Amino acid sequence: MSNTAKLTLEGKEYELPVVVGSENEKAIDITRLRAQTGYITLDTGYMNTGATRSAITYLDGEQGILRYRGIPIEDLAEKSTFVETSYLLLHGELPTQEQWKRFSNLLTYHSMIHEDMIRFFDGYPATAHPMAILSSMVCSLSAYYPESLNVFENMDMQSTRLLSKLRTIAAFSYKKSVGQPMMYPQNHLSYCANFLHMMFATPAERYEPDPDMVRALNILLILHADHEQNCSTSTVRLVGSSQANLFASVSAGICALWGPLHGGANQAVIEMLEEMQQTKLSCKEFVSQVKDKKAKVRLMGFGHRVYKNYDPRAKILKQMAQVILNKKGVNDPMLQLAQELEEAALSDPFFIERKLYPNVDFYSGLLYKAMGIPVNMFTVMFAIGRLPGWIAQCKEMMEDPENKIGRPRQIYTGPTERHYTALADRK
Ligand code: COA
Repeated sequence: MSNTAKLTLEGKEYELPVVVGSENEKAIDITRLRAQTGYITLDTGYMNTGATRSAITYLDGEQGILRYRGIPIEDLAEKSTFVETSYLLLHGELPTQEQWKRFSNLLTYHSMIHEDMIRFFDGYPATAHPMAILSSMVCSLSAYYPESLNVFENMDMQSTRLLSKLRTIAAFSYKKSVGQPMMYPQNHLSYCANFLHMMFATPAERYEPDPDMVRALNILLILHADHEQNCSTSTVRLVGSSQANLFASVSAGICALWGPLHGGANQAVIEMLEEMQQTKLSCKEFVSQVKDKKAKVRLMGFGHRVYKNYDPRAKILKQMAQVILNKKGVNDPMLQLAQELEEAALSDPFFIERKLYPNVDFYSGLLYKAMGIPVNMFTVMFAIGRLPGWIAQCKEMMEDPENKIGRPRQIYTGPTERHYTALADRK
């Protein structure tokens, strides 16, 4: 196969290099296009734009394949822990026993936030969305670690701090919303058990994290840990490309994740199912509504920019939701409704033609609900899971000698030059 592509513009021919990835993904390298031709490419929503070369996550949306550093997501979900998977994403290899111990210890001993920061929580109303608190608190961490402003130093230390403290901030924002005292982390607990402790323990009674829930949380976080160049990760990379510090870059990523078309979808799914239950709308009726474009209703938790097949993460979560709820003897009618809705959508030509399948958000909310996590915390859970991916991608970018500040171009469509008129002359 030729390793160049030919482009003809205004009668002149240009050769553009072809880049091939390790899984045979192909791209036309247009880095020098504007310099050579004066043209730029236009790709709204970056549907065809490769923003970087990356060795972290491989995703094949047609086949429904997702691998971190080459290891299938199914393998990691079955055998790994969130801490180990985070190490894999950050360092490219599974840790040795020694490396695992060190990494795990660092996460344990950096879990507290500065006492002064606890007072920040008092400044928020109890009704504040925890994503607003999370993004501001993460950015505020840079005020407490001024050395983080030098992004090329101490990246590993900043990463560990952030990985450990994010779950503390998340749990404290929940405690604030329910008016309960904040529960400090406990060093004898594992990463996920510690999070459940900070969320659900109270000083009034003994709390033992349920091992099934700890395992379920590990799997949920592993499944969310990275997803290559999605909206929030691209945001983290873009902000980081200006050499803003890691906390600032991740804080921007948290904001990007918040939207209902991205991480906010897990909350939107539960709200959609709740509304169907309240209005007694059948799955068929709801699917008809979704198909009517004028109604502007979307089937939340369905469809994906990249997956044109069943999202492999949704497959694992669907199965896990059934197992966990059965094991706990919970009969959640919402799970049944979700399954019926999925069936109704997957057998409908509208969804078949557009290759719309359940994505990671369709079943994750049901699991969070079973753990007792309130709906407005769902996107926060997504953020905790996605954090190692954000950091790994940011680190990869910083270590790339060819890294440049992200700065897309545009095609200007506004007025051509015109002159200022004085206010008195304007009608
Ligand atoms: N419900 C109903 N129709 C949907 C749909 C959904 N969830 N997702 C996509 N479609 C339809 C669109 O209306 C469009 O139809 P058209 O070709 O007739 O205009 C077609 O499928 C393509 O959708 P589009 O919005 O162009 O795809 P996208 O790649 O820009 O968007 C999402 C991807 C994820 C934003 C989109 O599928 C969505 O909004 N899903 C619901 C939110 C969600 O679950 N987000 C979490 C993602 S992990």
